[in-house]
Amino acid sequence: MKVPNLRHSIRTLSLSSREKRERIDPPPKRHPPQHCCPRYANKSDTPNGSRNVHVQILESSWSAFSSSARTPAILCLGLGSPSASLNARIQLAFLTETCKRLKVAHDAISIYDPIFTTEDIALLEEELQMRVLPKNRSREREDYILSVPTICFMPHCDIELYDTVLRANWSRDGLSNLFLLGNQLQEYLDNKPTTVLEAVAPCLLRVAPFLENQRLPISDAWPTAFNNISAQYFPSSQSSSIDKLVALWRPHPHEEEGGTGDAVGEGN
Ligand SMILES: C[S@@+](CC[C@H](N)C(=O)[O-])C[C@H]1O[C@@H](n2cnc3c(N)ncnc32)[C@H](O)[C@@H]1O
Repeated sequence: MKVPNLRHSIRTLSLSSREKRERIDPPPKRHPPQHCCPRYANKSDTPNGSRNVHVQILESSWSAFSSSARTPAILCLGLGSPSASLNARIQLAFLTETCKRLKVAHDAISIYDPIFTTEDIALLEEELQMRVLPKNRSREREDYILSVPTICFMPHCDIELYDTVLRANWSRDGLSNLFLLGNQLQEYLDNKPTTVLEAVAPCLLRVAPFLENQRLPISDAWPTAFNNISAQYFPSSQSSSIDKLVALWRPHPHEEEGGTGDAVGEGN
């Protein structure tokens, strides 16, 4: 017969209610991504078993986009909090794996999410050597101007944020430098009325039909981290479409726009 551990039972009875709660339901573990993400790099997690299929797709799309095969800069927005969210940790692991494969130095990554905690910022800046954009920027959009070919990694961001990045790059150079890894923009056009898109995302409405897109497969292991994510860019055959887009239409300026600031790729 199994004898109950009396010392354990007595100790449990004398715990405060908070201590008891924590014993039964311990607070969530805050894993830094490097402790839980090696699995990402090693796992065969697609139905056909191909390893690291996401990074492979990104690599091939990037080389189709950047004919000179140059090293990209990276702007990462809307990652979520790595200390609190598994999706954010998996996406961060994907980002670091991408950097390894495309030989991107971590200090060429500008990253921002208003949800970042002090712990997240310490991890991203001190351990991973990324450039965390400051929170209180009066002219946020200027950080999004792409002065070199840039992977904009924006997993599951709000439609308005995609539009903000497009608006900041409403020029021939800006749109030509944009390589978006984020929600498939065409799906917004398929699922929302044009009047709504014209009001909330006029740049996205105009750009989406011209983009080449390569969808990442849904991961069996982390189904919510990569669903509906596509690599999207203007193919070189569409360069005259960019010219027409920017010549024939200009987004209305937002009230707070104007001034100068750092652009992605400058100083890298
Ligand atoms: C739907 S969540 C996606 C989180 C995570 N990437 C995922 O796939 O689960 C959108 C994220 O965008 C962030 N966000 C909102 N406004 C932002 C901004 N101006 N710049 C960067 N990130 C922003 C939010 O804090 C949130 O973490």
